[in-house]
This record gives sequence, C-alpha cells and structure tokens, in this order.
Amino acid sequence: MSSEKNVNSEKMNEWNDPTAAGANPKCVLAYSGGLDTSAIVIWLKGLGYEVHAMLVDVGQDEDMEAQCAKAIRLGAASAVIRDAKPAMFASVIPQTIGLASVYEGAYRLGTALARPFIALEQVKYAKELGGATLVHGATGKGNDQIRFEFAYKSLAPQYPVLAPWKVWSFEGRKDLIAYLKQNGVADQFDEKKDYSLDENFWHISVEGAELEDAKADVDVEAVLAVVKDKFATGGSPCTAKSVTVGFEKGVPVSVDGEAMSLPSIIDQLNKQHRHASWAWELIIENRTTGVKSRGLYINPAAKLLQTAAASLAQCCLNKPTYDRYVSLGDDYATLLYRGEYFSSQRQVVDASAKPLLDCLTGEVTLTLAPSLYVSKIDAKEAIFCKETSTFEASAYSHADAGGFINLSWLANIGQPFDQSGEGYESTLETAGNTASDLCKVQSIVGRRLVSSAV
Ligand code: ARG
Repeated sequence: MSSEKNVNSEKMNEWNDPTAAGANPKCVLAYSGGLDTSAIVIWLKGLGYEVHAMLVDVGQDEDMEAQCAKAIRLGAASAVIRDAKPAMFASVIPQTIGLASVYEGAYRLGTALARPFIALEQVKYAKELGGATLVHGATGKGNDQIRFEFAYKSLAPQYPVLAPWKVWSFEGRKDLIAYLKQNGVADQFDEKKDYSLDENFWHISVEGAELEDAKADVDVEAVLAVVKDKFATGGSPCTAKSVTVGFEKGVPVSVDGEAMSLPSIIDQLNKQHRHASWAWELIIENRTTGVKSRGLYINPAAKLLQTAAASLAQCCLNKPTYDRYVSLGDDYATLLYRGEYFSSQRQVVDASAKPLLDCLTGEVTLTLAPSLYVSKIDAKEAIFCKETSTFEASAYSHADAGGFINLSWLANIGQPFDQSGEGYESTLETAGNTASDLCKVQSIVGRRLVSSAV
C-alpha cells in the first residue's frame, strides 16, 4: 500500500490490506463520533474497506443519532446504535457495586467495565454481517486497546483485528484534524483541546494536559469547570443531608425507602450529586502497559453505592468471609482493569462471590456533608452485635480473653524480642523518639510476655 493511504509501511501486516488473502473487506468500527474514530472512517474507506460504524450506548450524554448521520457522511456503509446498558446492568454493574471493586484502592473502573461490552456489540454486528474485521480507535499506549482486543480474542478469535493507531502514519491530534480538513470535513474539532474524556452512566474520566505531569499542581475546580455541563445533566442538585440506600443480596434496590430499578438509582444519584465536593477522585494509576497515568474521575453514584456496599459487608460478614470479600473485590477490579471480563477467571470470581453477596441485605445511610461517610447500617442478618460490642456490661466474659490470649500466643512464641540487640527499643531509639521510655513504663518488652505464656 502506498504512503498516500497514510499507512506506516513498516508496521503493516496482511490484515491492513482488505484485498489480501485472509483479510475481510467488511469492517465493524467501534465508533464514537470523536476526532479519532471520525478520521478512522475516512482512513478505512481509503484503504478499500466497507466500513460499518457501530456506536454503542453506554450512557454517554450525547446525540448519538447525529453522530451516526456523520459517520454516513464520512463514508460509512452503515452506522448503527446498539444499547449495551441492559447487559451491563445485569452483570458487571451489580457485581462491581456489591464487591465494592476499586482498582488500586481508588479507580472505580468506569471505562474498564464498559469496553468489553462495546466489543461484544461489535462482535454481534460483525456476525450479523457474516463476518468482519474488528476495528477500534484506541492508541498503543493505553489500557483500552487491551480491553478491546482481549474481548475480540475471547468472543471471536476467527475475525481479523485492525488498530489504526498501530499502523497509520498520523502521530497526533493535529495530524488527524489536518487529515479531516484535507478530506473536506470541516468539523468543530479544536486543536487546543487537551483533555481526553470518556463518559458513560458510571463515570466521566478526564486525562491529559496538566494531569499528565505529577509535578503540576492541579486545580481540580478548574478541570471540573471544563466538564461541568457533561455527565448526567438535567437533574436538580440534592440538598438533603443524607441518603439511605436499600440493598437486596448486594444489589441496590431502593433510595430513601422508595423501590427503584438499578439504572434509575444510578441515574438519580449521579444527577443529584454530580457537583458534590466528594464526587470525584484525582489519582495516579498503573496502566496494564506499565505506563503510569494521572486522571480525574467523576463518579458520584459509584462512590455512594460502593461505599455503602463495603460497609454492609463489614457489618454482615464474619472475619474470614469478609477477608474473602475484600480479596474477591480486588481480584474482580484487577481483572476488569486488565480487560479480562470474558474469561474463566471472571466466572470464578462471580461464582465465589455469590454466597457472600447473598448476605448483603439491608439499608445503609450515608451522610453527605461536610464529607461523605456511612452513618447507619440496618441489616437483619448483621453479625455486628450491639450486645457483644458494647463497652457496657454484657454477657461477654472478659475473663475468657485471658485464655484466648494465652492459647493464641503459643503460635507466636519465638526468641525474646529484645535479646538480639535489634529489638523494638533500639529501632525506636535510632528513629530518634522517646518511645523507649514508654515501653519501659508499659512493660511491653517481649521477654516478659514470652515467659508468662510458656
Ligand atoms: N485510565 C482509565 C482506564 O484505563 C480511563 C481511560 C479513559 N479512556 C480514554 N480513552 N480517555 O480505565
């Protein structure tokens, strides 16, 4: 293929040429209508592909019909909208809420949980067309390429895959805008737009510009102002001091006593708390590619529901099962982040989590100001027991604790802690504080405890 096709010839493979043996001249593009996928429609057509643009509705606040009309203007043979929300609400969303799954302790997975479902719709459409090359607009630096391509490999390993960013000669935003202009598309793309946004019903992510430099002192208010009209707009802000979420087996089923469907709950909470001071996180994360990145994530409903679910689990599960809950929640977050939704490891987590999530029924009240916290948990099956936990007199026998400590200590017996000369006291002294005096007063030196237990 020639360079006027804007292909980097060194990076070509047989799939880039739709006329080559084994390639499929029909392609289904995961299309959004943004700069990249608009350019991709023209570029694919220039290569000789029959382009089918697939716009997947994951709750982005956008005129999708208008984007489809644009795809046709750009040269697509078809442009269709498919709704991935019902499938997500029946699977990944309740699970992410119930397990309070958060990647690296902070990222609520908004983009990660949507990508596999976009890929799924693409594959379904490719099948309807009798087979097609699968195309996505993700770059070679981020997580999204992995999520798309892992899903393709799981769902339709027989279809060729084409990732334009890996083979074309364009290097950035400016090149794409010039390319569109060259092709007579005078669109509204702004050369100076420097944030990369991704929006769905679960979150809006903001990356790029000053966020790319950890040394840059980010003014979050200024970044929020740029996206203030995006995401779950149209609702009235909430003036209530608290919100109570009802859960049935780990799934939110009501808000303030009113039964609601999960999509309505998420939509309402997002709208009401879109501008709350606690509704966002500015975080650094480790991408699967190894690149570190910093992003701002706005996700009010996700934060409320996951915080509530985690508290319910803390109240309703005993210690060993709660530990499993935490580790399954982490596993689920990691595999979602890495794009492993369509995998047996995800099925294993789902199956293992079921008996734990089945215990999570009850109502959780979250106080909303001045900061977000769980102020009340009312669960019939709670293991938390006021009569046991109280500081007041109860049936609990304080004396039993003596035997418990003596027996538990047997597993811990070793060399007296301070004999080696590298004990607790000397460590503290090196650190230059006065804790050694405290240790003497409180008699917490290891030797005494060891000898009394033996
Ligand atoms: N860093 C997040 C993730 O990997 C958000 C990515 C947003 N994607 C985008 N194309 N702007 O899930």
